[in-house]
Amino acid sequence: MTEEPLVLVEWDNKYSVGIALIDDQHKELIRLTNELYQGCLAGNEEAEDFFFKTVRKVLDYTKFHFSAEEKLMENVRYPKYAEHKKQHEDFVIQTLNDVKSFQGGKKFVPNNFVRYLKDWILSHIAITDTQYAKYIHELKRQGTLGNVIGI
Ligand SMILES: [Fe+2]
Repeated sequence: MTEEPLVLVEWDNKYSVGIALIDDQHKELIRLTNELYQGCLAGNEEAEDFFFKTVRKVLDYTKFHFSAEEKLMENVRYPKYAEHKKQHEDFVIQTLNDVKSFQGGKKFVPNNFVRYLKDWILSHIAITDTQYAKYIHELKRQGTLGNVIGI
């Protein structure tokens, strides 16, 4: 029998974008993903109850984190701000739709959802967040970053 691991994803320094404020928020997102995952290991009905309670928490924190990132990108006049913001918006819409369709009777497969969440977060950090972080580090290197709060 194969035992399910208790943690789906662990923070690794390779996920760091080099901005402490953002790394801390990404760590919290990973922690919440694990919380959701752990709840999904319970029996079916319990898992479902837990899922609907916890997914709210995940979405609330995600929205808080996205707006922190968007503020930061606006402050440094990041050229790909609109594209990045669109990814955030699409994620929120997609996730809300998923939750709604589970509530509307679509077969609930918590493990699939939590894996989608994990994959989205990790690839978003690795590709999209890394791009704006590089831009910020470059401004810093050139000495043109100015006083941006939070970095
Ligand atoms: Fe982002």
